[in-house]
Amino acid sequence: MKERILEVRGLNVDYGMGPESVRAVRDVDLTLHRGEVLGLAGESGSGKSTLAYGMTRLLPPPGIVAGGEVIYHLDDGTTVDLLRIRDADLRRLRWSEIAIVFQGAINSLNPVQRISTQLVDVLKAHSASTPRARLDRARELLTLVGIASDRLNSYPHQLSGGMRQRVMIAMALALEPRVVIMDEPTTALDVVVQRQILRTLVDLRERLGFSVVFITHDLSLLVEFSDRIAIMYAGQVVEEAASADLYRTPLHPYSDGLLQSFPALKGPKRELSGIAGSPPDLRMMPSGCPFHPRCARAMDVCGQQTPVLGQSRAGRSVACWLHPVSVG
Ligand SMILES: Nc1ncnc2c1ncn2[C@@H]1O[C@H](COP(=O)(O)OP(=O)(O)OP(=O)(O)O)[C@@H](O)[C@H]1O
Ligand SMILES: [Mg+2]
Repeated sequence: MKERILEVRGLNVDYGMGPESVRAVRDVDLTLHRGEVLGLAGESGSGKSTLAYGMTRLLPPPGIVAGGEVIYHLDDGTTVDLLRIRDADLRRLRWSEIAIVFQGAINSLNPVQRISTQLVDVLKAHSASTPRARLDRARELLTLVGIASDRLNSYPHQLSGGMRQRVMIAMALALEPRVVIMDEPTTALDVVVQRQILRTLVDLRERLGFSVVFITHDLSLLVEFSDRIAIMYAGQVVEEAASADLYRTPLHPYSDGLLQSFPALKGPKRELSGIAGSPPDLRMMPSGCPFHPRCARAMDVCGQQTPVLGQSRAGRSVACWLHPVSVG
C-alpha cells in the first residue's frame, strides 16, 4: 500500500451564502500518495480550481468551504487538517511543504524585478541562509528546471512564455516541498512547450520525490504524465483511475467523451468527437446524474437518482448507473 500524503474527505465548496449560493465542489474525496502525479481533469467550470484553492484555504471570496477535511501527513507521521489548523501554522506549511502554482501564475511574475530577486525573495521569506547561499540556490533552481543560470539577471519580459513557466516551477520547488499543486500552468503555451515543461516536472518529481496534483482540461496530457487521474464534472469527481486504465477503458461516459475531445500523441488514434451540449448551470442542476442530459447512454434511473462515487464490481472507482457500485 502506497503511503498517503494528502487526503481530501467529503469536501464541499460554495460560492456565496444563503439561497443565492451555488455548490461548486460537492462531496469530493481524493487521495494523493507519496511520489505520485495525480491529474485532475474536467471541462471549464467543473470546479478544478475551486477544489485546489478550497483544499489549501486559498479560496477568494465569495468562496466558502462548507464542509469536509483535508488531512496532510507530516514527515514525522502525525497528521493535520489543513482546513482547521491555525493561520500561522498553515503559512508555515505553504511553500515549504505544499507549493501551489496558480492558474495564470505565468503573469504573476513581477515585471520590474529581475528573476534573481524574485527567486531570492521566496528563499529569504522562509529560510535563514546567507545572501550568497540564496543566490547560489537560485542559480541551482534555474538549472534544475532547464534554464541557463546566466538568465538569473533577466527580467520576466526577456524570457519566453515557456521559460517564465519554468521560473514559476523553480519558485514552487525552492523550499523542497513534498506536494506541488499546479493549476493549468501551461494553457497559454503551445502543445510542444507544454509537454517539455511537464516532462521536466515529472523527471524532477522522480529525482526529488515530491508528489504532484496537476490540473488541466487537456486529458491527453494527463494520460501521458500522471499516475492516476480524477475526472470532475459539475463539481463532483465522477471517475478516478490509474491513467492507463482510464485511457484503455474509461467507464464514465463523460470520461470517454473527454478522451475523445483531445488528440493523443501516443497510443492508438481515436476519432475526435467531443461531447455534445455544455455543462449544467450550478444554479439549476438537473435531477439525478448531473451528466444525464448530455449522456448518449442515459437510462431512466439516471434522471431520477444521483450516482455516488464508489467501487464498481470490477474494482474501479466511478459514479455512474452503468457501473453499479458494490460497496458504498
Ligand atoms: N467568484 C465566483 N462566484 C460565483 N461562482 C463562481 C466564482 N468562481 C467560480 N465560480 C463557479 O464555480 C464553478 C467552478 O469554477 P472553477 O473556476 O473552479 O472551474 P475550473 O474547473 O477551474 O474551470 P477552468 O478550466 O475554466 O479553470 C463554475 O461554475 C464557476 O462559474
Ligand atoms: Mg480553473
